[in-house]
Amino acid sequence: MKSWSLIGLIATAIIALALPVYAFNETNRMETAKARLLAEAVTQGELVYAQNCVVCHGADGRGIGTYPGLDNEGVRAMDYEALFKTIERGRYGTAMAAWGVSEGGVLNSQQLDQLIAMIQSGDWTKTARTVDAAGLNPPTVLKVEIPAETLAEVAKLPHGQVLAEALPLYAANCSGCHGPSGEGTAIAPILNDATLRSQKSDEELNRIITNGVAGTLMAGWRQALSSQEIASLVGLLRNWEEIPPGLIPQPELPPIASSDAEIIAAGGELFSVACATCHGPAGQGTRMAPALNVQSFLTQTPDQAIKTIIAQGVPNTRMPAWGGRLTDAELNSLVSFLRAWEPTAPAVAQPLPGGGQGGGPPWLRNKTNN
Ligand code: HEC
Ligand code: HEC
Ligand code: HEC
Repeated sequence: MKSWSLIGLIATAIIALALPVYAFNETNRMETAKARLLAEAVTQGELVYAQNCVVCHGADGRGIGTYPGLDNEGVRAMDYEALFKTIERGRYGTAMAAWGVSEGGVLNSQQLDQLIAMIQSGDWTKTARTVDAAGLNPPTVLKVEIPAETLAEVAKLPHGQVLAEALPLYAANCSGCHGPSGEGTAIAPILNDATLRSQKSDEELNRIITNGVAGTLMAGWRQALSSQEIASLVGLLRNWEEIPPGLIPQPELPPIASSDAEIIAAGGELFSVACATCHGPAGQGTRMAPALNVQSFLTQTPDQAIKTIIAQGVPNTRMPAWGGRLTDAELNSLVSFLRAWEPTAPAVAQPLPGGGQGGGPPWLRNKTNN
């Protein structure tokens, strides 16, 4: 009897002692699990941000040009609901498009939650590193101011009225991704281009701008622009060739190709690892891919266009998109390496083994135009 009660007493004492410890451990465990989930969401949020938001809000969240920063107390103080609504639905009449799937955007509610976790609890220095590692650093800001006199000049062109109406819209909303003159950047395709004009009808262009392209950076603009504004942007894409080159002032862009020997050497190493199997060790072309070390290509293709091709690849061909795998600096080093060939590049390529004897892909027949 006695021993029983003693055991009972001891057991009670142990339980009494252990319970709070257990409870404490349990709370601790839940806290740890919560912290881990939050950290995971923040990490995912950094990636979603890198892929969708950096072009306007900046890798470090400080904002680019006239686009606002998100790295500030005002935004951190916004509650969950307000942030969710802003990102899901966008802000009417601004470049902040609707990103939620329910609004025609590309992000599901889990991704919206991850973004909010990153904005509220993340560290912008870490986000900037994630963006850099993903090779998604935005192109340098392209703030294009179009002087009134220039617009007056433009208005005299055959489709002058629609062009003059569209240019400021383009400069404010599209140039950051597609380049100040529609020449394309590492993150968005060329728009000022005969191929696009011949391949896409006005209706298709209108649909792309209105609804965006699902799963890409190209958001739908129907919340931010009126249908009349979208129609005039289509008019710009359709009639861009009327605008004489040089009429629109070009912002000063940092050069892409460098003549720095170290940068060129780094580009050369990348080339031998990633490109030589297809393009040939000296860029002379093979059965797999066209020559790059050839005058016709190098003189006719500006640095930005080369960079865009390398970053985005050529759809429906073997040319892969390297943008997600190489950083901005690596892309620039490749362009520097290719550009360094220009002074010595042959006028006509001599592709590797057996190429050129009739047949084969078009580039082995020594294309002259590009
Ligand atoms: C094309 C440019 C652009 C892109 C891309 C963009 N935003 Fe915005 N964002 C804006 C602009 C412009 C505003 C300011 C809208 C206004 O005036 O209310 C804004 C506002 C915001 C705000 C509110 C800030 C405040 O101070 O009220 C948040 C939050 C935000 N954006 C998050 C995002 C997220 C997250 C992404 C990526 C999914 C994103 N944005 C992509 C242009 C952009
Ligand atoms: C945040 C970056 C970004 C902004 C801002 C942006 N675009 Fe795009 N745009 C893209 C990307 C990326 C694509 C390629 C989508 C794809 O892979 O099909 C694209 C595709 C397009 C296309 C289709 C091109 C083709 O060859 O099929 C048109 C047209 C276009 N954009 C027009 C515009 C216009 C007009 C604006 C301004 C109102 C604009 N874009 C703003 C990123 C952007
Ligand atoms: C798997 C094979 C393959 C690899 C690897 C490859 N390319 Fe290509 N590349 C191609 C093909 C095929 C084309 C031609 C696409 C076309 O038909 O327009 C091409 C086209 C190009 C062009 C445009 C040439 C022109 O005349 O318009 C450039 C620039 C280029 N590649 C650079 C690179 C660089 C730099 C790398 C390495 C980072 C690379 N490529 C890796 C297959 C490849």
